[in-house]
This record gives sequence, C-alpha cells and structure tokens, in this order.
Amino acid sequence: MRVLVIGSGGREHALIRKIKESDKVDYIACTPGNGGISYDAECFGVGACDIDGVVSLAKDIKADLVVVAPDDPLVLGMVDALNAEGFATFGPNAAAAIIEGSKVFSKNLMLKYGIPTAEYKVFDNAQDAIDYITEKNEFPTVIKADGLALGKGVLIPENLEDAVNGVREIMEDKVFGDSGNNIVVEEFLTGPEVSVLAFTDGKCVKPMVSSMDHKRALDGDKGLNTGGMGTVSPNPYYTKDVARECMEKIFLPTIDAMNKEGRTFKGCLYFGLMITPNGPKVIEYNCRFGDPETQVVLPRLKTDIIDIFEAINSSTLADLDIEWSDEACTCVIMASGGYPKSYPKGIEINGLTDGQLDGVTVYHAGTAVKDGKLVTSGGRVLGVTALGSDIRQALSKSYDAVSKISFDGAHFRKDIGKRALEALK
Ligand code: AMP
Ligand code: GLY
Repeated sequence: MRVLVIGSGGREHALIRKIKESDKVDYIACTPGNGGISYDAECFGVGACDIDGVVSLAKDIKADLVVVAPDDPLVLGMVDALNAEGFATFGPNAAAAIIEGSKVFSKNLMLKYGIPTAEYKVFDNAQDAIDYITEKNEFPTVIKADGLALGKGVLIPENLEDAVNGVREIMEDKVFGDSGNNIVVEEFLTGPEVSVLAFTDGKCVKPMVSSMDHKRALDGDKGLNTGGMGTVSPNPYYTKDVARECMEKIFLPTIDAMNKEGRTFKGCLYFGLMITPNGPKVIEYNCRFGDPETQVVLPRLKTDIIDIFEAINSSTLADLDIEWSDEACTCVIMASGGYPKSYPKGIEINGLTDGQLDGVTVYHAGTAVKDGKLVTSGGRVLGVTALGSDIRQALSKSYDAVSKISFDGAHFRKDIGKRALEALK
C-alpha cells in the first residue's frame, strides 16, 4: 500500500512511525511534513489546507490511503474532496468534523443528548455576553471562541475586567477572526484532566489507552497555554470505574448523537475530559488525534494500524480486537526559546543522528534539514518519547535523552508526569 499523511507535526511523525510498522505498507509520503519526518517518509511541498493540491498529489503518487491528521483540513472538507475522487481516507468528513469546528455545535449537541459538560450560554454579540458575565459574577469563568483558533480560543478570566477585555478581543477586535463571531461562556469546572482518543466507525467506539497532557508552558502548570508541553500514558485518574462511566454516559451517547444528527463520525474522536467531583464531564471534543497525546498512545498500540483504518472504512471495527502494551509511555517536548510567544527559527539541533537517539523515539514537531543539518523550524521542536515498565522508568529515559539533545534557547518542562506519579502514590 501507498499511504499519504497530511500534516507536519509530532502527531504526524508518530502516525507515520506506526504506519511504517505495518507489513501492508511499502511507501509513505507526507505533506508538508518536516525535517525529522523526511527520514521516515517522502515529504512534499503541498500545504495541509490546500485541498486541490492534496487531491492532485494523491493522484500523482497513486495513494491507496490518505490520512488527514490536523483539524483545519478536516473541518474544511478535505476528506469529502478525497472521497469524491475515489480515495480511501482516514478522518471524519466535514459534517462530522464540526464537532471540533464549532464549540456552539458541540455544546448544543451535549445539551440535546444529555452528555455531561459544563453549563453554558451562547452569545452572538459582545454586550449581551458582558451583561451575562456581570450579572452572574462568578470567577473564574470560561470564554470560548466558537471556531478553530489554533488551540488558543479559550480564556479563563479571574475577574470581570479581564472577562470584559476577553469578550471584546474575541468578538470586536476579532483576534481569532470569524472564529469569534459567536462565543460560549461556561461554568469553570475543577478536577484532573484526562485525554481519551477513540477509534470509531460510527457503529462502535474503541477507546485507546488514556493519556494526560501538560498544557501550560512552565513547571507547576504556570505560564501561558501551549499546544502541549508533554504527555504521559496511561493517565492514573482514568480508573476502570471512570472508564466504564465514560463509555456509558459520554462515548456511546456521543456516537449515537452524531448518527441521529446525520453526521456519522468515522475516524479518531478525541474526548477532552475533566473528572469533576460530580463525575466525568466533556471539556472539548477534537475530530482527530491529539498532539502530543498521539506520541504516547500509538507507541503502545500492538495491532496493525492499517487494519484499524480499514476496519473503520468497512464499518467492521466491532470485529477487530485492538491490543495495547501494558508499558507506560512519556513524551517531553523541547520547545524553542520564547514559545508560545515569538521564537527564532533555523537554530542548529545537536545530539541527534538522522534525527534520532538510542533508547528513545524522537518525534519531530518543528524541524527542518538545511544544508544537511537539522535545525529548528517551529515552536514545539521535538517530542522525546520513551516506553518503560512504568511512568517513572519511562520518564527517566525521556529526561536522560533530553539532557543529551541541545539547541540554543531550548526549553522544556521538568515536571512532566509529576502529577501522574503523585496520583499513583
Ligand atoms: P480547550 O481548548 O477546550 O481544550 O481548553 C483548553 C484548556 O482550558 C483545557 O484543557 C482546560 O484546562 C481549560 N478549560 C476549558 N474549559 C474549561 C472549563 N469549563 N472549566 C475549567 N477549565 C476549562
Ligand atoms: N493536546 C490537545 C490537542 O491536541 O488539542
């Protein structure tokens, strides 16, 4: 089989590494890819949202399967366009990807079908939202732009002044463009967060092993929100009882709700959950693999991922046994100096041979090869990932490798997995 993967981050690198393990695959391409991915797949220059460009690339390279990994092309309908040209794909169509593409849609879906989530109200003008927040007078509160906003569309103001400024920035200054035409204002929930990615063919849902993201830039969950500074799997807060409750009250009802809405979801559905004192609730849905969750989940997958993709396409996922390793997996992100704000690019990375290092897997998120040298090209640069008999052992391998890799300005969190280890005590 010839497989084309769309995207350019650490998640795509992890997908490609797993696809490469399949006996069924003899060629992998990626567009646009990155420096590290180019060691594992042939990279092309077509942008991840260039639907016509991707369709013609798929034709040129005679792709048998196209895996669309990022949110924006899914929401834009890349899968629909590829299917219309007869290509097999992995990823939801646009009608189903709206579960991530519009927070107003997903909140209304949960309300309509009784799926537990934070209480909320939707607004289409700033003054009404401000009046509501003023009257409610409960802080912190949570303000979410309706549409995609590069993972930055969520504000958690601690007081009225910040809330008013936030509403104005999103709805009047349009800092997230049209994504801010509508906003959701919702109740602030507390509790540990769990990420659960799940395979679904629209008939059955098969959750993958759980994981925990670390979204803030600095140790102790301080600093700005990022795309994710590290992950561990499994997530100790996701106990068997919690898993059972999630299946019954969240996973199955969501699949069912999407079917009833005529928006059957096929692909990887990401449940961002919070285990609140009143039980698990949905913080967000994503219509795709998480980044950097994928980097710690897929290394634990023992089943051929192509078999899973094919079972989803033929709606026979229920018949496939998906096996996972009992090992733990940890990923520490090495980021560019300044990230998540502005950062330099083109800085030489030292310590890797052909992009890798013995004992770990280095998933490349923002790297390029220039004049034969590996250099930085993004905010999140590398995801240094290790398997171990438990989280502690995996972490020690990840951090040992991190200490051998360097580039000017590199920063990483030193407490990835700390909360998970505390929960295990
Ligand atoms: P999202 O982009 O929806 O994943 O939100 C980013 C982060 O904001 C989440 O991972 C949570 O840590 C936090 N968050 C979002 N919604 C809520 C909420 N209702 N209560 C508390 N924290 C939230
Ligand atoms: N790690 C969160 C996400 O992929 O959106």
